Amino acid sequence: MSETNLQAGRVAMITGASAGIGRALAIRLAREGWQVALCARREEALRAVADEHPDLAGRLHAYPLDVTDVAESMAVFRAVEEELGEIDTLILNAGDYDPMPLDDFDPALFRRLAEVNYLGAVNGVGAALGPMRERRRGQILVTASLSAYRGLPQAAPYGASKAAVLNMAESLRPALDGTGVTLRVINPGFVKTRLTEKNRFHMPQLITPEEAAGYIHREIDAGGFEIIFPKRFAWTLKLLRLLPYRLYFALTRRMVQA
Ligand SMILES: NC(=O)c1ccc[n+]([C@@H]2O[C@H](COP(=O)([O-])OP(=O)(O)OC[C@H]3O[C@@H](n4cnc5c(N)ncnc54)[C@H](OP(=O)(O)O)[C@@H]3O)[C@@H](O)[C@H]2O)c1
Repeated sequence: MSETNLQAGRVAMITGASAGIGRALAIRLAREGWQVALCARREEALRAVADEHPDLAGRLHAYPLDVTDVAESMAVFRAVEEELGEIDTLILNAGDYDPMPLDDFDPALFRRLAEVNYLGAVNGVGAALGPMRERRRGQILVTASLSAYRGLPQAAPYGASKAAVLNMAESLRPALDGTGVTLRVINPGFVKTRLTEKNRFHMPQLITPEEAAGYIHREIDAGGFEIIFPKRFAWTLKLLRLLPYRLYFALTRRMVQA
């Protein structure tokens, strides 16, 4: 059976699907025959994704959602299941980013990014766990970031929110073993989207949202805990994670001064 036939009829729900990586992944999965629920706050942007792809008519469905709202997260999950069928794969990709130099230290920015990136993912996991555990089937992918591994200059609010996502998933994964529900993490490097447009530094191995979607799609059924990309950059950051603090700070201090 071809890959398309195997994937036809499966239902994915993707948060943050109005732009960037989520949008590219939604299109990719719809091309493979999946039914895809596109979620984000801007309904017109979600509808535009479907309108721009008449060839995928009937496979891309707009579900406006603010992931910071617990009740709305539950209601949208239920609505997608009622209207499209059992959600096979939930991808919690909605996110926001702003760099923060030390002189602009801003508790409100920490709160905003934690609300969307971390608690937004928590709300999604919370909405899916009950139904998926009951039927003993389903997978949840949460998007963290390679910046979740270690603190990076100017990225304290963002990196801390993503480290929380990664830690949550590491904590829950073993408890879910044997329940039929899989929790996995997507850790991207630099991807050219609205978020990275805010960076004023050189971003090594910057890839397109379509390339990012390709990496995720290739491993969507792999079952391993982590999907990392681009690979060379990801392995460099994994090695940096092993450095003792003295050496690590010697490196990152240079990035502050750059
Ligand atoms: N780009 C990178 O280099 C990179 C690297 C590592 C990790 N990531 C992560 O990858 C994910 C996707 O990012 P991206 O780069 O594709 O950014 P993007 O193009 O800005 O897309 C972000 C998406 O999240 C949605 N969103 C933001 N706040 C939301 C909320 N409160 N409720 C629902 N949806 C919300 C946005 O839609 P609306 O504005 O319509 O709500 C948009 O669809 C994020 O979690 C990001 O942190 C990105």
